[in-house]
Amino acid sequence: MRWEDAIGPLKEGWNEDIDEDDGNYYEDIVNSVLKKKDLLLESASRFGTPQYILDEDVLREKASGFMQNFRNFIPNSRFFYAFKSNDLPYICGFLRDLGFNADVAGLFELQLALKLNFKRIIFTGPAKSTEELLLAIENRNRVVINVDNKDELDRVIGLVDDGRVRISVRVNPDSSVMKTWSKFGVDFDELKEVISRARTSSKVSLVGLHFHSSWNDTPERYCKNIKLIGEFLKEDLSQFEFLDIGGGIYPEDQATLTKFSHNYVLREVVSEVQEEHLDFDLSEFVVDDVDSLEVFGKEISSALEKYIFPFNKDMDIYLEPGRYVSNNSTHILLKVLCEKGENVIVDGGMNLIGSLDFSQYLFAPIVNLSNPSLELRKKTIYGSLCKADDLWGYSFFGEGCKKDDVVIVLMQGSYTFSRAWRFIKETAPYVVISNGKLRLAKEKEKFSDRYSGCKF
Ligand SMILES: Cc1ncc(COP(=O)(O)O)c(C=O)c1O
Repeated sequence: MRWEDAIGPLKEGWNEDIDEDDGNYYEDIVNSVLKKKDLLLESASRFGTPQYILDEDVLREKASGFMQNFRNFIPNSRFFYAFKSNDLPYICGFLRDLGFNADVAGLFELQLALKLNFKRIIFTGPAKSTEELLLAIENRNRVVINVDNKDELDRVIGLVDDGRVRISVRVNPDSSVMKTWSKFGVDFDELKEVISRARTSSKVSLVGLHFHSSWNDTPERYCKNIKLIGEFLKEDLSQFEFLDIGGGIYPEDQATLTKFSHNYVLREVVSEVQEEHLDFDLSEFVVDDVDSLEVFGKEISSALEKYIFPFNKDMDIYLEPGRYVSNNSTHILLKVLCEKGENVIVDGGMNLIGSLDFSQYLFAPIVNLSNPSLELRKKTIYGSLCKADDLWGYSFFGEGCKKDDVVIVLMQGSYTFSRAWRFIKETAPYVVISNGKLRLAKEKEKFSDRYSGCKF
């Protein structure tokens, strides 16, 4: 069949499986933010905009809810917060006090975890520097080095001069899933060799196994990896203290712009073949469909019962959530500086986010705190950078949007502050709402911060 002919049947169903949302989904979330409207506006005027603002209540709820859920299903679970998702010291310290350990991936994260007195730290990364490894070895009473590959194992062994260092091995259970993921971990065809090399060394104690996969909207990949590891190692599992199943649980309440969904691309192809004009609304979005945490807990627990615990019933199960824990509690406050035709320009840009995802495919609810409403209205909200695709979104909740209004972009806590670009504008301050009070958790970046160490 020619592909043009195949378009006919596809065309009939093209609208049916697109379930666009009109913003009602976000009503409760917008309402809960509006309850703190006065405090948020006060923070904007006291600490300035743009500004990251953390709602400690939401962070507590997400973090404790995560731990409680997995403890219910997997009693011997332990939690390691992935610093890379948001390394604000306040957040890391807050999570430590709730019972999280630390998952770090680089020198500064490791130094931060040590400075914050984390008692258990797992250090993962595909190419750790000698400086990083030496610091981890020096702090061996608190750090497990999660070895990524055979060469790294040899490097660690070569760097330990006395005693033993606790290590785990990152496994790549299925490198065929995605080519780029073959960068991480040890494949099965080398795993037994790496395990035996570690076991025969007098410099390391091999105590754990690890895998990680990202952006999971169902527990499928965890279960598959657990099965692959269990069936491959069987009795050998009895020699390990823990299995670390990584992070990667998709946060709740995320949405994608419909324009960039597969369905839309299909619509575009269809309309081109049919020579039809495609009238499409940029502001439309679809809320991402994600299994509940209970489903993750239940299914991961059954996979462990079936493939891991029969060989080692005492194995601890480590989880390394980042995005799920840190995403929804931080928002970004911005001020409208200019009305331009139908649209507006605000005083913060994508340097705060470290990506151009909002122009590409992500939707974030934006609320006009100065003139709020539960009605989603169209307007392109441009950022402050000299880049055309520097924009926050195509719609906002509000009656209108004009110069000097303060708007808030919701749920921007993960891989934003920690990934912010050093580009044009200074990094924004970070404020925390804690027990109904505002606290400055990080000052706005200064000229001397940015150019520290530079010769003039
Ligand atoms: C090894 C490891 N653990 C945990 C995480 C955290 O993942 P997420 O933020 O998706 O939960 C990552 C993220 O890339 C990772 O690479």
